[in-house]
Amino acid sequence: MKRPLAYVAGTGRGIPAKVMTNHDFAALGIETSHDWIVERTGIVERHIAEPGETTAHMSAEAARTAMQRAGVTAGELDAIVLSTATPDRLLPSTAVDLQAMLGATRAAAFDLSAACSGFLYGMTIGEGMIATGVAETVLVIGAEKMSSIVDWQDRATCVLFGDGAGAAILRRTKGSGNQQRGILSTFMRSDGTLAELLWRPGGGAKQPFCQDVLDERSFYVKMAGREVFKSAVRSMAEACDRALDGAKLTGNDIDILIPHQANVRIIEATAKHASIPMDKVYVNVDRYGNTSSASIPIALDELVEQGTVREGTTALLVAFGAGFTWASMVIRF
Ligand code: UT7
Repeated sequence: MKRPLAYVAGTGRGIPAKVMTNHDFAALGIETSHDWIVERTGIVERHIAEPGETTAHMSAEAARTAMQRAGVTAGELDAIVLSTATPDRLLPSTAVDLQAMLGATRAAAFDLSAACSGFLYGMTIGEGMIATGVAETVLVIGAEKMSSIVDWQDRATCVLFGDGAGAAILRRTKGSGNQQRGILSTFMRSDGTLAELLWRPGGGAKQPFCQDVLDERSFYVKMAGREVFKSAVRSMAEACDRALDGAKLTGNDIDILIPHQANVRIIEATAKHASIPMDKVYVNVDRYGNTSSASIPIALDELVEQGTVREGTTALLVAFGAGFTWASMVIRF
């Protein structure tokens, strides 16, 4: 595919106001400590949505900012691709609620399930729709209300996650020449043989909601942390290599690395592998925890807002999550 075909015209984020610090777990009777969480993950606090603050609401806030920054009206959206592991309900999609909230009357809207890699999967789908002429303008969202699916009795997972949404508007790149802005390369992989290392075993079509599901708490997220950690380090390293190769670049050409924010130790290992110094790596896991597919677009929006990502910036985005899925992308802004 001759690139770039699509560029990021605007970004936004929707973050719940409520902040929960590591110290707040004591009040819930969770046996943990601020020191343990910081040392093992880098997380200091996370945002938690109130009951009425839905995945669609957070998405709408992110989308409105992204559309405003891009100078795009809701009526101009051809498609809404919403990545989430926490849809507001199972049928129909959260994306159609967002479509209705925005009044995006021309947009096809659907949810995408690729866990923490979902935003990069969504960006790749959006680029593909633009490449085939199906769309001119695509809204890509990563939105998660992780607080609704973590087991608040399981200290090994409940301290890790947070809520939020991030959005990007993708538009067709005009003109030609490889110095132009846009998506320069993409990479996606998955390995379903490892699905049970990070999953919600019950409550789906295979084992619909019943007393057993409730008793076993099998509708909550379960994770084999150490195994996931090792795979994340290995797969994010591969993903960096593949996106850099695809763009014919090296780590030296990258102005900013925007990794999925799950654990600062995974981020450091990824940066080291890609030969990107930590002063060129964006870390906000300390303030948000792991917001799954929202983490990269939230980080990107913060970088745009502070002016670190601006016209001419070359960024490497890389993610890993349940599935397992992993993905990467080089974008010139
Ligand atoms: O976004 C999708 C991808 N997800 C990830 O990338 C997460 C990957 N995994 C991780 O980030 C890390 O594995 C964790 C942060 C989840 C855990 O860190 P770890 O260094 O791998 O710790 P561990 O799971 O090996 O547990 C070490 C000890 C255990 O105690 P014992 O068996 O050594 O006595 C745990 O029971 O820490 C204990 N532990 C806790 N202690 C205090 C587990 N959770 C906690 C906690 N507070 N919250």
